[in-house]
Amino acid sequence: MRTIGVWLAVLSFLAHGHGLCMGGSSSGGSDQEGPGTKEKAAPDRIKVWQPAQEDLRMQERAAGGAIVPQPAVRVQDLRCEYKTDPMGIDVLRPRLSWRIEASGRAVTQSAYQVRAAGGPNDLANEEGLLWDSGKVSSEQSIHVEYGGPDLRSRQVVSWQVRVWVGSQDAKRTRLGDPDNHGNASPWSRPASWAMGLLSPSDWKAQWIEPILKEDPKVSNPCPMLRKAFMLKGPVRSARAYVTCHGLYEIQINGQRVGDQVFTPGWTAYDKRLQYQSYDVTGLVRAGDNAVGATLGDGWFRGRLMGGPGRNLYGNTLALLAQIEVTYEDATCDVIVTDATWKAATGPILASDIYDGETYDARLETQGWTQPGFDDSGWSGVKVAGYSKDVLVAPVGPPVRCIEEIRPIKILKTPAGQTVVDMGQNMVGWIRVKVKGPAGAEVVLQHVEVLDKTGNVYVANLRTAKQTDRYTLKGSDGPEVFEPHFTFHGFRYVAVQAWPGEPSLDDLTGVVIHSDITPTGTFECSNPMLNQLQHNIQWGQKGNFLDVPTDCPQRNERLGWTGDAQVFARTACFNADVAGFYTKWLADLAADQKANGAVPHVIPDVLSRGQATGGASAGWADAAVVVPWTVYLCYGDRRILEREYPSMKAWVDYMAGRAGERGLWTQDYTYGDWLAFATNRSDYPGATTDKDLICQAYFARSTDLVQRTAAVLGKTEDARRYADLLKRIKAVFQREFVTSNGRLVSNTQTAYALALAFDLLPDSQRPAAAKRLAQDVDRFKHITTGFLGTPVICQVLSDYGYLDQAYMLLNRKDYPSWLYPITRGATTIWERWDGIKPDGSFQDEGMNSFNHYAYGAIGQWLYAVVAGIELDPQQPAYRHVLVQPQPGGGLSSAVASLDSMYGRIRSAWQIKDGRMQIDVAIPPNTTAAVTLPHVQEGTVTEGGQPLSKSEGVTSSTQKGEAVVVRIGSGSYRFGYPWSEK
Ligand code: BGC
Repeated sequence: MRTIGVWLAVLSFLAHGHGLCMGGSSSGGSDQEGPGTKEKAAPDRIKVWQPAQEDLRMQERAAGGAIVPQPAVRVQDLRCEYKTDPMGIDVLRPRLSWRIEASGRAVTQSAYQVRAAGGPNDLANEEGLLWDSGKVSSEQSIHVEYGGPDLRSRQVVSWQVRVWVGSQDAKRTRLGDPDNHGNASPWSRPASWAMGLLSPSDWKAQWIEPILKEDPKVSNPCPMLRKAFMLKGPVRSARAYVTCHGLYEIQINGQRVGDQVFTPGWTAYDKRLQYQSYDVTGLVRAGDNAVGATLGDGWFRGRLMGGPGRNLYGNTLALLAQIEVTYEDATCDVIVTDATWKAATGPILASDIYDGETYDARLETQGWTQPGFDDSGWSGVKVAGYSKDVLVAPVGPPVRCIEEIRPIKILKTPAGQTVVDMGQNMVGWIRVKVKGPAGAEVVLQHVEVLDKTGNVYVANLRTAKQTDRYTLKGSDGPEVFEPHFTFHGFRYVAVQAWPGEPSLDDLTGVVIHSDITPTGTFECSNPMLNQLQHNIQWGQKGNFLDVPTDCPQRNERLGWTGDAQVFARTACFNADVAGFYTKWLADLAADQKANGAVPHVIPDVLSRGQATGGASAGWADAAVVVPWTVYLCYGDRRILEREYPSMKAWVDYMAGRAGERGLWTQDYTYGDWLAFATNRSDYPGATTDKDLICQAYFARSTDLVQRTAAVLGKTEDARRYADLLKRIKAVFQREFVTSNGRLVSNTQTAYALALAFDLLPDSQRPAAAKRLAQDVDRFKHITTGFLGTPVICQVLSDYGYLDQAYMLLNRKDYPSWLYPITRGATTIWERWDGIKPDGSFQDEGMNSFNHYAYGAIGQWLYAVVAGIELDPQQPAYRHVLVQPQPGGGLSSAVASLDSMYGRIRSAWQIKDGRMQIDVAIPPNTTAAVTLPHVQEGTVTEGGQPLSKSEGVTSSTQKGEAVVVRIGSGSYRFGYPWSEK
């Protein structure tokens, strides 16, 4: 049976081609945002952002296309610090993770062996091993620390692993391990990592600044810096290490180095500045060479909301670069930035993140990054003494151009403007292909929506111009342009100038974001919910641009802590964001105030240089909630170790402010931001007392710090914070809860937070949950803002009000998650009514159409509708809680998650009076599957009674549900289903 299944998978793979990403339509409708004609996205125009297909997981292709049978157990997906073969890391004890592939069920790792060497050949020959762990009896297959000698700068390490597996299932063991149990896998294919520059003294390069006349009040032409150099012989290997103040793009011999954009990324620059490491062996050659870098203003000195408006981190751009060459004869050379470099400006006349780029192709300088270019007319550079102590290697994924979108339509607005509709609110830019005479112009303004008359709407961009200008040089063939140091948030492109008329083929949408690997899928029988999932994922893509931002379009785009905090759990379902958050949390800790207060945005551009600032409840708590979430989802204990001082400092800050009274009310707080509001005289809206919110989050963070202390074995701290938590809860109850269990704020958010954060005594919880459900019944809609929204459905379903939760989810009228979809939304909106039911817009001062915060419902789709949840006692989904809760008129739902251990899948379907639940969990994990509404005796697995099912270790009736414990593998449960 199994073999046939595998072959069918192979055939389907062959039929669908070899691409990693599956082509396909965006699910659900993608009607035009704003009033106007309704237009569906072309089916194959947008790639589905989803994990790689696993059709061939158990096979390997030989050169001739034949399938090579694989061993029953093997080790795959070797990762070092979450990355595949990372280049230039500075983690001194990197953590290694792998996934086990195994046929059969209930497979668990009983031992592993890792070996590491200077190269794959040494591994194969077992020569000069750097480290051999020996056979270690352990189930650990993620985050195994490298245990060899200390690593040096530039060191390249190849490593591989093999495992021994056993069975969790007694039945299986009795059967005598017929195939894979108790045996060693073969050695995995080698993987590698390369160390970066670990000490400031490794940098022989000097910081250089171009000597150019600039006006610090505006965006100046982008400096170009170059140097020609000679290499004395054939090259064995070459590395480039690069960073800058501003943004850089670097070329060697006319070829771009790497495919990353927005380098060196955005960090708390004065404390942490990233450098990138590149393998440039293929770009250099014996003899004459040249290197050239273009610098852009970026976050460093471009426009940024807050502070003086621009030049926030400095007035001048600077470059630091070093190319290290090893010749075939093992001798070395190093080419560095120094006083001998030359500088000039070229075609990029202005480039600003908010405003866009101005490029005059007539000013291009052919061959300036090639040898032989005459730079005698160029100015010089000056050496600057900036510190190299702040340099760090990236831990997160780089920003890249991830996909391309073709526009769906060109329209003429009533105002007579030509507008191109991309069919998707996206983040990135347009690649233009254009023909025309020298001096002709292309001017494109990027906007998110059309207004109710069908004209472009720019007011919500505030002062961001989002406009690219390209002046043609006038060549024979078409000219191709894309900007370098700006990005836009947009669905529509207003063509303000173009020689002639553009056609659909002349514009391509280039989507950029941090290259986070997609890990999650969710789909169900309601197409509108599928569109919601699509919108959540696009909200994440558009706002994961090196830092987690609030929005990508207006003059803001900042790392708002509250938004990041509420969305973190959903983000971890959709993609592998461990490295992304690890990087951002390092900036959070770096920018945290000495008194423990956490700024509102990270990197901190709002209270930079001030001793105080930030400290808003629900925002500052990102310092605690995000590391805890990364720990839960990825089993990352090290992030807790590293962030512990920052987490503690935040809680200690609140405790200090709360003082003897134990009530924290003293700081400005945003409250339940953007909660439901009305113009009704008798009901202004669902405003939750800010003091209540402060105390609730004070408790939440204290609770998580107490748990963190326990995980880290800091018993004394754990006890201290547990005591503090008791006091905070007592004060919460004293101040905000009546003796009958009523909260002083009779809002959904108040009840949802009190229950989600466990702030009420046991005796009062059912009544509080009932009040919450009654409020939902009374209004028939959600009234929560940023803080209540992520928890309300979870609390309702936890307390037995699943119908109310589904009602909120399924509602299509304002306010609801689906209302924006009825208005054609392709991303999550900042406000429940960004476009009001009458077609007018909300307040232009704050009306983003790409804001992920309300997308926090995503976690409920994965964890409750489809049923993939983690067990906090065994993080990283080592033990999976599969507990789908069907409802809301759905007849099916399916979710998958590529966890650290491998793919988890939960799919349920109600058909012909039967429930079928398919569950798959990867080797080295276990699961408790909670089958809803069933009597134990009626359940089958694979058509057999549970007792006969291999891999099922127990089953227990629990109320109306049956809990089945399973080992790894794929299972199909079935039983009769009648609607409640
Ligand atoms: C941002 C939010 C942020 C808020 C703070 C807004 O301008 O866009 O998402 O959390 O300010 O209240």
